[in-house]
Amino acid sequence: MTSQAGILRKRILDLVAEYHQIAHAPTPFVPGESPVPVASRAFEAADIQSLVDSSLEFGLTAGPLADELENRLAESFGVRSASLVNSGSSANLLAVSALTSPKLGSRRLLPGDEVITVAAGSPATVNPIVQNGLVPVFVDVSLPTYNIDSKMLEAAKSDRTRAVILAHTLGNPFDTSAVVEFVRKHDLWLIEDCCDAFGATSDGKRVGTFGDLATLSFYASHHMTTGEGGCVLTEKPLLKTIVESLRDWGRDCWCDPGKENTCGKRFDWQLGGLPRGYDHKYTYSHLGYNLKMTEMQAAVGISQLQKIPKLVAKRRANYQLLRKGLQELEHIFMLPEATPKSDPSWFGFPLAVRREAPFSRSRVVSFLENRKIATGLLFGGNLLRQPAYREVKHRVVGSLANTDFIMSQVFWIGVHPGLTPEMIAYVVDAFHHLPISDWKTLWA
Ligand SMILES: Cc1ncc(COP(=O)(O)O)c(C=O)c1O
Repeated sequence: MTSQAGILRKRILDLVAEYHQIAHAPTPFVPGESPVPVASRAFEAADIQSLVDSSLEFGLTAGPLADELENRLAESFGVRSASLVNSGSSANLLAVSALTSPKLGSRRLLPGDEVITVAAGSPATVNPIVQNGLVPVFVDVSLPTYNIDSKMLEAAKSDRTRAVILAHTLGNPFDTSAVVEFVRKHDLWLIEDCCDAFGATSDGKRVGTFGDLATLSFYASHHMTTGEGGCVLTEKPLLKTIVESLRDWGRDCWCDPGKENTCGKRFDWQLGGLPRGYDHKYTYSHLGYNLKMTEMQAAVGISQLQKIPKLVAKRRANYQLLRKGLQELEHIFMLPEATPKSDPSWFGFPLAVRREAPFSRSRVVSFLENRKIATGLLFGGNLLRQPAYREVKHRVVGSLANTDFIMSQVFWIGVHPGLTPEMIAYVVDAFHHLPISDWKTLWA
């Protein structure tokens, strides 16, 4: 870069910082008027500078910054590889699809094979099972951890069971020791959906390091963001190759965009029914997609990743403030609990309106929303009751009573770093003004 270009670049980035200071200055919180969102983008001047800096090069497709983010993510999780993708949903699609690759030989998942999961979750966890011609097997979850009831795992297994895919619900880890023991005993694949759980630990170990594959989401409201974005983590080089092949049109070649002959034998391969020496760049070993992340998203990701410890700490602190503030309403609301031996990285604060409570969930939710306190549902409730799943071939093992309870009684409020102690105090106060004149005596 010429020195003149360097000077201009610095001026642009200084102006970005100045712009951020003025355009994104925090506004004072006015109780009842300012919104208290369930999620927010946590960003600073450095994030916008990183984005603008990368755009000046006009390197739009994944390049050196995407490589750098992949390396930093892999290092941060202590796994061999991190493959960036354009969303957490794509990450799950690739993780499940990878298990159907012919490159896995007899361990490959075939149509009709079963994958154990839960119906109280995100469609993005379950859909890839169905999209790959596999059969989801649903078991219930435990309350108030909102994760799989691991006692049901053995009952859920059949001759066709080949894999387990589970999310760490709202950042609260599932019982990793029971699940890992089960998959090891029966030689099953495990996919950990960590899309809502970046930074959580179980038994002192990072979630994302227990499964054969793990996925992350960098959607705007997540622990760190690239706008849209996600990642597949794995320790296994073969799975990484398959994931990246599926991500990059299904190609057999693993050259980065703009590169060629990384394998050193671009015109020397003999694969499938192709003539010997057919260009490896145009050889396809999977029915793939194009799910790549862009370079500018990666630039934002690099800057965000540096702040992750601070962002996760803030989420945990906000969770504790809410837990303490709502403690005395436990007769009315079932409060969330961390899975034993875990340190969650909360995505949200789930609350269950007890069946004996003097009001319905929708009454509570509209009471809060009227006070500008945003709420969310635990995704699809019982996914099997959603219109999209009516014709989906599946198995249910045992009752889904808790899943149905979640569908009708549970909602969640935010714990994101954008919430100030003042906002949380306002939320806690609102809960104490729910229209129950004599709840203390009623429910004591
Ligand atoms: C558990 C879980 N998995 C996967 C996803 C999909 O992530 P994305 O929105 O990045 O596609 C979500 C959505 O937030 C989610 O909650």
